Amino acid sequence: MQYHVPVMSEAAADLLVTDPGGLYVDATAGGGGHSAAIVTRLTDQGGLIALDRDAEALKATRHRLCGSKVRVRLMHAAYADLGSCCEAQHIDAVDGVLFDLGVSSHQLDAAERGFSYLAEGPLDMRMDTRQETSAATCLAHVQETELRRIIRDLGEEREARRIARALVARRADQGLKSTRDIREAVLSTRPRMPNKTLSRVFQAIRIVVNDELGQLDRALDASAGLLRSGGRLVVIAYHSLEDRLVKHRLAGWIHGCVCPPRIPVCVCGRKPQFRPVLTRPRRADPVEVKANPRARSAIMRAVEKL
Ligand SMILES: C[S@@+](CC[C@H](N)C(=O)[O-])C[C@H]1O[C@@H](n2cnc3c(N)ncnc32)[C@H](O)[C@@H]1O
Repeated sequence: MQYHVPVMSEAAADLLVTDPGGLYVDATAGGGGHSAAIVTRLTDQGGLIALDRDAEALKATRHRLCGSKVRVRLMHAAYADLGSCCEAQHIDAVDGVLFDLGVSSHQLDAAERGFSYLAEGPLDMRMDTRQETSAATCLAHVQETELRRIIRDLGEEREARRIARALVARRADQGLKSTRDIREAVLSTRPRMPNKTLSRVFQAIRIVVNDELGQLDRALDASAGLLRSGGRLVVIAYHSLEDRLVKHRLAGWIHGCVCPPRIPVCVCGRKPQFRPVLTRPRRADPVEVKANPRARSAIMRAVEKL
């Protein structure tokens, strides 16, 4: 089975690569689909850093890129640490950084990773299996009010109160150890759209376990610091929480000034650092969405450093 079908990979690589001899970062290597699209645009003077916090993804990327004439460095790390990883390799600037956010199909398909409500597996959900905290450890200690907030804010689920109560009751009764425990607790609340609700609850737990929004927040700043003038940042997001964060951060960099609108003259002194590359975010075309339903929710944004 294919590790992951990349979304908008040709369009993303076209936007990202402006110098065929440049150094690029694929911060979410996954199965190497975007990495492969990037290296085909590079000469043997060019280079790619393919980073992922999942060791299995790096194996797949290595396999996918073997035989490439381009220098490829694989980094097993979280993208929030991109700055320090590059510093450790004496890399002080790059020509482009790509983020294709979220989980890969392989992570969802591997029952033993516990990412999906569709398969029974341990409550794990760690992208980096070296991390101590799994979904089971998170759920063993979380208070009901906090769990409600997580499901409401990170899963954008309206029935968060009832679901949190059901999960805490199940925990007291039998413990929460497997994906089936979550599934049964959620289904006991008789949701109107069971699959949508399950998907939102699993998303919320996954975001917490992997600190996905905190990671993204730090990684965007790290990328901005690493890019050289003319370098590009391309981000593909799949849910509104991530896309909102990306949209606001990029808009802030493009605008520069943070003075309140009522102040007639800028006093903050902050200048624009980036320019937009796309006038509006790009979506996958209907042909791609038909072939790969995962592409339906994808939103791609791109900016260039001044
Ligand atoms: C949607 S997949 C990327 C698929 C890839 N573009 C491809 O073409 O196969 C997202 C990947 O990002 C990785 N990831 C998620 N959060 C990460 C983080 N904070 N640091 C590094 N990698 C992360 C996941 O492990 C997963 O492999």
